[in-house]
Amino acid sequence: MRSFAGRDILSLKDFEREEFFRIFQVAKELEPIARDRRNSTMLAEKTLVTAFYQPSTRTRLAHEAAMHRLGGHVTGFSDAKMTRAGDWYQESIKDTVKMLEFYGDVIVMRHFQQGAPMEAAKWASVPIINGGDGWGEHPTQILTDLYTVLTEKGHLDGLKWVAVGDMRMRTMHSLAYALTQFDCPITFVAPPDKDLTPEFKAELKEYCLNFKEAEHVDQCIADADVILVEPVVQPDYTKSRQEAGEHGLTPSNYKITRELLSTKAKSDAILLHSLPRMDEIPSDVDITRWSRYWQEAFNGVVMRMALLALVLGKME
Ligand code: CP
Repeated sequence: MRSFAGRDILSLKDFEREEFFRIFQVAKELEPIARDRRNSTMLAEKTLVTAFYQPSTRTRLAHEAAMHRLGGHVTGFSDAKMTRAGDWYQESIKDTVKMLEFYGDVIVMRHFQQGAPMEAAKWASVPIINGGDGWGEHPTQILTDLYTVLTEKGHLDGLKWVAVGDMRMRTMHSLAYALTQFDCPITFVAPPDKDLTPEFKAELKEYCLNFKEAEHVDQCIADADVILVEPVVQPDYTKSRQEAGEHGLTPSNYKITRELLSTKAKSDAILLHSLPRMDEIPSDVDITRWSRYWQEAFNGVVMRMALLALVLGKME
């Protein structure tokens, strides 16, 4: 297995099966620190730089919380408008990361341009973690989701997945790449205009992913062990920011209601959502036995602790 020390975390397409399990093992070891709400000293000499060119609640703050839990330091920006990249200069990724690499030991970047973290990794001498790039990928979120499934179900192989939402979404791409490494058949449910592209489907077939498509969640939810949901009503992820505005409601094909779960879903299926949500999971589902999105929130910190410890070479 390749070492994680000094490695960029850009895409789950690069990940081998054993590497997933190593990350999950480290997460399990570090989990008691977060569970007990303690801060340790493992990364006391290290600094995380956050470079967020797009809004975020979970990804940025979970990385920051993870760094604090491991005793490290944090600097960075959460709004590029306050940097030279977001003003008259429109400073390039290269020039920006050639500065940031001296301000810390690892950089987590979210950007509205697909491939921006990969461009940053070309120039930075410190590891780059992709915190979401346009419609590209969101590897740390899907690592969190897989870790949540592993902790809830005790295993990954043999579980049947349904993924509902906009298939242009970066989480969907990372999910599909990740599941190529496991025995996990998946059914994708998306509106026709937000479906898997023919190119992406061809790529998934090449990687031997066992996948199907369905038009309505009703058609496939009964078989699912894991139901992963993303919005179909959502902003354009290639924009730096979109203000709140008029938007439609989620059609029933892509909505997970309490009634649907209680009448059709397996009683031990689990429901994931990376959040934020619109109306695709009404809040009365939150207290049902299927929901696991608050566990995902906790696991999001634990997962980032594992990744930071590994890429900074404190765990091997
Ligand atoms: N799930 C997720 O990426 O959330 P944020 O946009 O708040 O980071």
